[in-house]
Amino acid sequence: MRGMAALLTDHEITERVLSHIANRSTDTGAALWREPVENYRSKQRFDAEMQRVLRRSYTAFCPSAALPEAGSFIARDALGTPVVAVRGRDGVVRAFQNVCRHRGMRIAADSGCVNAFVCPYHGWTYELDGKLRHIPHAEGFPGLDKSHHGLAPLHVAERLGLVFISQAPSAPQLDLAGIPELFGGDQKLYATSSRVTEANWKIVLEGFLEGYHIRATHPESFFPYGFDNLNVVEQIGPHSRVTFPFRRIEKLAAVPPHERRVMGFVTFVYHIFPNALVTVLSNHTNLLVLEPLSVDRTNVVAYSWTNRSVDDPEAMEAATRDSTFTETGASEDRAIVSAIQRGVGSTANERFIFGRYESAIVHVHRTLDAALTAAG
Ligand code: FES
Ligand SMILES: [Fe+2]
Repeated sequence: MRGMAALLTDHEITERVLSHIANRSTDTGAALWREPVENYRSKQRFDAEMQRVLRRSYTAFCPSAALPEAGSFIARDALGTPVVAVRGRDGVVRAFQNVCRHRGMRIAADSGCVNAFVCPYHGWTYELDGKLRHIPHAEGFPGLDKSHHGLAPLHVAERLGLVFISQAPSAPQLDLAGIPELFGGDQKLYATSSRVTEANWKIVLEGFLEGYHIRATHPESFFPYGFDNLNVVEQIGPHSRVTFPFRRIEKLAAVPPHERRVMGFVTFVYHIFPNALVTVLSNHTNLLVLEPLSVDRTNVVAYSWTNRSVDDPEAMEAATRDSTFTETGASEDRAIVSAIQRGVGSTANERFIFGRYESAIVHVHRTLDAALTAAG
């Protein structure tokens, strides 16, 4: 039985899209939203978002599949803090501040697989569960209690095939109700990357959450295969899903309702509040984590999976072919968002206007404002 918050089925998505095509319509929100431009350039606002919302939430850090075995680790900055996530000998993923308890050196870099973390500065050695195991020449630290100098732990939740981390003092709620399993066991994680975009994290996010810009921004990349301003928009608690149909979805009109499968006929964009996106394309799925570096810079960390079983010899070829295609559109979006950022210091706009076609973005701003208010 489907509850109130359930996502539309493949058949329902198809019907909604076919009706929008016939009526030249799209999903619309109830009202406009006017967001102060100050909220994209103010250091004070940025600090409030980081400290009162992002660091108090669980935020996506990496895929579970990126930590396949005991000792597998990933180290990177998350919300301004050096973090290392590692799978323990008991199979449990843990995360720590990536900061040595001697004099603060990072104890792990990039990614890999280790038996223990050895600090590169003086060699203090930590177990995979964070305990301080060994101090070279320990007689130089008389009275130091090793049990009080383990790595500083962070909260971890492993859900939906993703590792979520929180830097809050006590573990917050992680409400993912209604979001389906997006990463099946037989999909293959085949690429990771990160790239700094010169824009506020919310401007980067907004670029993924509406199809109103498809014709103007992507005239030769996405538009020939898709539609301008034709989306299905669903809210899932604080999160959302935006559906971008391909033109070929019209073929599903001839398919009996219970046999309709939209995979390959649409792109799904899931926004996992606050700062993660999962894009499910025809042959591959991406996780994008938007790591705010400062009010006008964002590190976009990306992981890519095949959509089909690894045993399918064409899965990788299809996924990489599609990745190349979508990269063209992604570079068009990057050019837009960094150009917007250059203009936020201008006096042209006091507020940005989000229209009825941009309701998933309105949902972001409304949710973020509520979270800021709730945090006091
Ligand atoms: S800072 Fe890590 S061992 Fe000295
Ligand atoms: Fe775009």
